[in-house]
Formats: sequence, structure tokens, C-alpha cells
Amino acid sequence: MEKILVIGCSGQIGSELTLELRKLYGNANVIATDIRPAPDEIAGTGKFEILDVLDTSKLQLILEHEKITQVYHLAAILSGNAEKRPLASWDINMRSLINVLELGRELKLKRIFWPSSIAVFGPTTPRYNTPQYTIMEPNTVYGISKLAGERWIEYYFNKYGVDTRSLRYPGLISYKTEAGGGTTDYAVEIFYHAIKTGKYECFLGPKSDLPMMFMCDAIKATIDLMEADSSKLSLRSSYNVAGICFNPEQIADEIRKHIPGFEITYKPDFRQAIADSWPACIDDSVAKKDWGLNYEFDLPKMTEVMIDEIRKKLTVS
Ligand code: NAD
Ligand code: SER
Repeated sequence: MEKILVIGCSGQIGSELTLELRKLYGNANVIATDIRPAPDEIAGTGKFEILDVLDTSKLQLILEHEKITQVYHLAAILSGNAEKRPLASWDINMRSLINVLELGRELKLKRIFWPSSIAVFGPTTPRYNTPQYTIMEPNTVYGISKLAGERWIEYYFNKYGVDTRSLRYPGLISYKTEAGGGTTDYAVEIFYHAIKTGKYECFLGPKSDLPMMFMCDAIKATIDLMEADSSKLSLRSSYNVAGICFNPEQIADEIRKHIPGFEITYKPDFRQAIADSWPACIDDSVAKKDWGLNYEFDLPKMTEVMIDEIRKKLTVS
């Protein structure tokens, strides 16, 4: 019987992943935690506890008391916000991971998921069809923390046999919870502005190609990786995940098919330099070969669902 701990359950990914895990493993077997309150759907369907993941003693207490077997560690400060508070973000991103890995080793946890990001790549990385193994010289504090994190999870696997698993998520697009302060957040915000006002001023330029992925595909990939047979995994750093590649101009064109007259203007800010340092599209053939990564959503299908669901959500509220 698996008993799962989600750290960072109130964020963009955690708010959906927790519910999916509860569907699969049972409400009582998925304990949700975050430093801030949980959405009603999570607090109302199972156990939720306030936890600062930097509080090692409380984390250990929960792991032991709940007899946790698997951890999904999602708490982090994302790229845009991390540039505003570099040292504090480094501290949260790195110290939290080391806490989880150390307790994973001591308590012999069965499996740990920790997400990496396309931010591990940098301006010297090939931007198109970015290989799994390539030059990695990230120049953001977030990217540096994710690359260091990849080295640590691989180290804990090789040195201590901790079963660590990870995906390099592209920008994630979803309608349930706000995006958490990243560079790819424009691709979520744009839908709300298009529906509410018919206009959006984008903080990236029109041709900023980036890899993106619809949340349903991201959740499925995460759980597929966590359920994959260990012997199939040829790497313990983090798997490239490509998703869909598009830029602000292309998503605006797709939105116009549903909201004719939608206007986008461009006012790039500090996040433009971050986007320019990341890949445009990446090669995920290793994940496909090892454990069968696959996707359901392309740009048109994702746009249709985003618009329908956000319209429903705004009507209800
Ligand atoms: P988010 O910012 O929406 O959620 C992160 C959650 O962590 C928040 O609810 C926050 O309250 C919580 N948190 C922050 N500090 C904490 C602490 N000290 N203790 C406990 N909880 C704390 O982020 P997200 O988009 O859900 O991302 C989750 C993970 O996935 C992160 O590691 C992120 O780097 C990674 N990721 C996300 C994306 C994306 O596009 N969303 C892409 C690549 C990687
Ligand atoms: N979506 C994330 C960000 O922009 C990528 O890791 O920070």
C-alpha cells in the first residue's frame, strides 16, 4: 500500500496532481502539505497540513507518523520570482530538496519525485531540438538551482540507492490555479485577459518560441514516470519533456479562432532575457523510449479546453 506526501500542494501543479493521486491511491493515502492554505477541493477531500519544507523536524514527523512511502516535492520559487530574490530562492529551492533527499535516505522512502525544468538549459545550449545531453550553462538562479538539483538527485540514487525520478517540465498551462511566477506564465494569463477584456499586453515578444505543455499531459507524464519499472529508467537526472512549441503570436492566432478581434500587444520585461536563454523546442526521445512518454494535447485542443473551462469558471464566480 502506497502512502504519498505532496509538498507544495497549493500551487499550479500540486493543486491538480494531488487530486489525481487521490483518485488513484485513495483520499486517505495522499497527504497534502504547503506553506500556505490548500484549495477547498484539496482540504475537503483528504488530510492537509501546513508545512514549511525547510522545517526538517516537522517534515520528518509527518513522514514517520503517516508512514509515507512516496514523496512528490513540488515546492519551489519559479524563474521570474527567483530573479527578484536570488539568495532566498536558492535557499528554498536547494535546502528543501536536500531535506527531502536526506530524509528519503534515512527513512528508506520507496520513491521521490522532484521536478526539474527547461530552465536547466542556457544561452549556449542548442535552442532547437535540444538534446537530452548537451551544454548546460543556465544563467538564472532558478535554472542554476534546477541543474544543481538534478546533480543531487542523481547522486542520491547512485550513492544511496534512493529511487529519485524527475522530469524537465516545459511551461505548464492550466486553468484551475494561477501560475506561480514563472517566465512561461504569459501562456496562462493570456486566456484570462482574452476572455475578460479581449486584450492582452504580453511580457514576452511575439516570436519567443518556448516548449509548453497542457496540465493533463503533465500530470499523466508525472504519474507514468513514477509508476514505471525502475529497470526501464536509463537516467536519474531528469528527462527532457517537449510538449508543444509555440510563441505568443501563434497562441494569439489560435485564441482568435474562438475570440475574434482579440488583440495582443507586446511589452517585453526582464523575463524576455530568461525566455531567450531557454530552448524553443526540445528532444524528448529518451523519455519516449524508456517509459513511453506521450501527449494528448496540441495547441488547438489545449486552447479550446482552456477557453471553455475559464469561461465556465468566470461565470460561476
Ligand atoms: P507554484 O509556485 O505554483 O507552487 C509551488 C508551491 O510551493 C506553492 O503553493 C507554494 O506555496 C509552495 N511553497 C513555496 N515555498 C514553500 C515552502 N518553504 N514550504 C512548503 N511549500 C512551499 O509552482 P508550480 O508551477 O506548481 O511548480 C511546482 C514545481 O514544478 C516546482 O519545482 C517548479 O520549479 C516545477 N516546474 C514548474 C513549471 C511550470 O510551468 N509550472 C515548469 C517547470 C518546472
Ligand atoms: N514555467 C517555469 C518558469 O517559467 C519553467 O520552469 O519558471
